[in-house]
Amino acid sequence: MFARLLLYGICVYPWLSSEISASTHNMSYMRSILKVLADGQETWTNTPIFRGRHVNQDELADLIRWLQLDLKVATYLFTTSQLPKETDLLAYQVSNTSVLTLLFCRSSEELIWYHLDKRMWHLRRSRLIISLPAERSGSYKALLTMFQKIWHLQFLNVLVVHKEKIYGYTPYPKVNYFEIKLEGNKRLFPGTSSNYQGYTVSTPVENDLPRVFFVRDHQTNERYIRGFAYRLFVEFLRQHNATLHVTNAERDHSPTSSVNMSWILQLIEKKEVEISVHAYFDWEMGDSSYPLLITANCLIVPVRNEIPRYMYLYRPFHWHSWLLLLVALIYISGILFGFSGRRSISQSFLQSLCHLLFIGNSTRVYQPSWRYFFVIMQLALLGFMVTNWYGNELGSFLTTLLVDEQVDNMEQVVEKQQKILVKKYEVSTLLRHVIPPLIEHVARLVVGVNASEQVTALLSFNRSYAYPFTLERWEFLKMQQQYAVKPIFRFSGACLGSPMVGYPMRMDSHFESPLKYFIMRIQAMGLIQHWLISDFNDALKAGYVHFINNDLPVKALDMDSMRLAWLVLLFGWLMAIFCFICERRLQRERFACFLQIQD
Ligand SMILES: *[C@@H]1O[C@H](CO)[C@@H](O)[C@H](O)[C@H]1NC(C)=O
Ligand SMILES: *[C@@H]1O[C@H](CO)[C@@H](O)[C@H](O)[C@H]1NC(C)=O
Ligand SMILES: *[C@@H]1O[C@H](CO)[C@@H](O)[C@H](O)[C@H]1NC(C)=O
Ligand SMILES: *[C@@H]1O[C@H](CO)[C@@H](O)[C@H](O)[C@H]1NC(C)=O
Ligand SMILES: *[C@@H]1O[C@H](CO)[C@@H](O)[C@H](O)[C@H]1NC(C)=O
Ligand SMILES: *[C@@H]1O[C@H](CO)[C@@H](O)[C@H](O)[C@H]1NC(C)=O
Repeated sequence: MFARLLLYGICVYPWLSSEISASTHNMSYMRSILKVLADGQETWTNTPIFRGRHVNQDELADLIRWLQLDLKVATYLFTTSQLPKETDLLAYQVSNTSVLTLLFCRSSEELIWYHLDKRMWHLRRSRLIISLPAERSGSYKALLTMFQKIWHLQFLNVLVVHKEKIYGYTPYPKVNYFEIKLEGNKRLFPGTSSNYQGYTVSTPVENDLPRVFFVRDHQTNERYIRGFAYRLFVEFLRQHNATLHVTNAERDHSPTSSVNMSWILQLIEKKEVEISVHAYFDWEMGDSSYPLLITANCLIVPVRNEIPRYMYLYRPFHWHSWLLLLVALIYISGILFGFSGRRSISQSFLQSLCHLLFIGNSTRVYQPSWRYFFVIMQLALLGFMVTNWYGNELGSFLTTLLVDEQVDNMEQVVEKQQKILVKKYEVSTLLRHVIPPLIEHVARLVVGVNASEQVTALLSFNRSYAYPFTLERWEFLKMQQQYAVKPIFRFSGACLGSPMVGYPMRMDSHFESPLKYFIMRIQAMGLIQHWLISDFNDALKAGYVHFINNDLPVKALDMDSMRLAWLVLLFGWLMAIFCFICERRLQRERFACFLQIQD
């Protein structure tokens, strides 16, 4: 029994041990590659080394020593034992130009790939050499799987070393690899290319006015996509010899439908889609491209209550001034009464009213004294100024539209109980930008709906709500009211931060760097603004937007406009009747008195 066990052990042991230590990475070959690179044009100062399973530790230690002593580069050894943290990402410590990474692994399924993925965050364009052990199959399919994994992680500048052979790859238009000769080759690394060789980018496209939207030509019944975000992306692909495949092109996109960004972002997070043409902000699970725009995100609010026209009569003067004029009237009446030789108080009152209104006096004055002359002169000047000022103010009011105080910050939004219509998945983003003391109040005003409902309300100018809007969207929609005398919405100062609007894309996308430079060039040329404005006509034709109908700018004064004047007249009549009755009474008493005396 024991002998059998022993025999078994003897038979099994070499097999077991070979399983553990057999991964023979030819370190001397690796050394010669690195030597060729160092002697050639490649320079680097940092060498992160990722060690997968079954790597001979002694050989690796030798290699590290050689790297440090002979090539004078710093090395970092990463294994699967410690979990990568946000804080110790390599990208914070080194730049891609100084990095050459080594990975020793056996298959594309090992845990070390996860570590490579996390640690090499934003270092995808740096150089990477992957060493595979000799035991691994060198079949076309096996190697292709390896390169597909590399492409899945979006490493572009990669060499794979297997059985003293070196392979490079290109992902464009499909993942494909080729052998590279070590001897007599100055540039081993294939480098990154900006020619995508007909690579196809697949992504769903929905309506998202004005960044992306579908337009149908009624004559040819063909469908186009417009919008600056779409145009920019397509132009980028065209320049780099790639094409866009719209995965949901057959679907019908009605003008009131709107993109469900949380769906798109989920697709990108699951890596089903690598990039979306729907420029967006607030996105944490992946990367965003270089920003197309950095714009204020504020509430657009309905323009508030126009002041009724009868109030225009009152508006030219502040109530302080009205009060002062009243006091002046009484004062001047007193003065004139003094001059008139105590003739009649009511006549003095009427006279002072005439002076204030700058109208001719009814009484004649013969041979006025100098004093009287100067006083009247002053009164004439006063009357002239007051009436002219008033008349001019009133005239200018009638040429425009007087409106009340507008909602311009969050406090006023709360005060006026202005409801805010928000897409459901953006509610938390909105509340995050509200100052803490107001969050509770604002949360009560927020109405969360699905995207298409919001767009429907907005495009039909539903004035019951305010809407959070980025400035560029507003500039587009504002064109609808460009000819309107009476605007319907306005961009308020109640802002919710200034988001960076960029294309959401998967982490470490190969598009990042070329897209960045392309966006910069487009911005420098001002094409985004140009597209934004030129797309308005298409949106108009497709029925997304329409010009707002004008009320007739000239409006005749009607009875209602005179309401304040009527009130004054009514008040005057009532006063007159009151005085008349009083006088009648007084008269009768006197008459009675007179009769009594006669008796
Ligand atoms: C390692 O590579 C060298 C060439 O650099 C070769 O001469 C040697 O035989 C290889 N060793 C093994 C074990 O394959
Ligand atoms: C480093 O990155 C920049 C742009 O991100 C790229 O142009 C450059 O080629 C990269 N360097 C190397 C050595 O990969
Ligand atoms: C674009 O890609 C095609 C492959 O689809 C290739 O034949 C062509 O040469 C490329 N054009 C340029 C300008 O590189
Ligand atoms: C938007 O997408 C999310 C995630 O896929 C989904 O849960 C939600 O129902 C979608 N909303 C609408 C209105 O389709
Ligand atoms: C949005 O909500 C409305 C009513 O709540 C519903 O009729 C409509 O189907 C929804 N739209 C989507 C795309 O789910
Ligand atoms: C605006 O929205 C409110 C509430 O949803 C609705 O009652 C009203 O009919 C809408 N107005 C217009 C003009 O669509």
